[in-house]
Amino acid sequence: PHTLYFSRHGESEYNVLGKVGGDAVLSARGERYAQALATKFNAMRIPDLRVLTSRLRRTIATARGVEAPQEHVAALNELYAGICEGLSYEEMQEHYPQEFAWRDQDKLRYRYPWGESYIDAMQRVEPVIAELQRSNNILVVSHQAVLRCIIGFFTDKKPEELPYMEVPLHTIIRVSSHGYNYKVDFFKLPI
Ligand code: F6P
Repeated sequence: PHTLYFSRHGESEYNVLGKVGGDAVLSARGERYAQALATKFNAMRIPDLRVLTSRLRRTIATARGVEAPQEHVAALNELYAGICEGLSYEEMQEHYPQEFAWRDQDKLRYRYPWGESYIDAMQRVEPVIAELQRSNNILVVSHQAVLRCIIGFFTDKKPEELPYMEVPLHTIIRVSSHGYNYKVDFFKLPI
């Protein structure tokens, strides 16, 4: 058996404002999630646990209290939205209506100007996926789009479905292997 744990960062100041991308810090609620996550993992006493986060402040802060070696890797950073970084979806629609429409038509392949597409993000996380396949007891703290790519890989999602997968905030997602199949369980932490 082989068990991997995933979580998005706790709610950030940008989540509160509905803005994409950026490098915002956690909101007060997000900080409470970081606390709850640490308490939960430290109580589980998982042997040889390792933590991987992105290089962004919100994932590093979310994982900080978990007692395990921590590595911060840029490959786990959120899908980069290029010229749309820091905008809300309403602002995107207002400033870049054509871009907004294109993304809606083909969310998987749409690449933000000077930014990335889901396909790009999938390629970028391939080395992380390779590492996860040969690891056990790892907690990955990353972001919505990137976690859709990674969890979607383990659960055999069709590429077209990836951009719409549910990866809720404040939830631990456990992916465990059973033979060649992976089972996924969601644990929402009360905060
Ligand atoms: O809103 C949070 C967030 O992680 C943004 O930073 C990111 O751009 C977005 O989700 C990705 O979701 P979608 O691809 O559905 O826009």
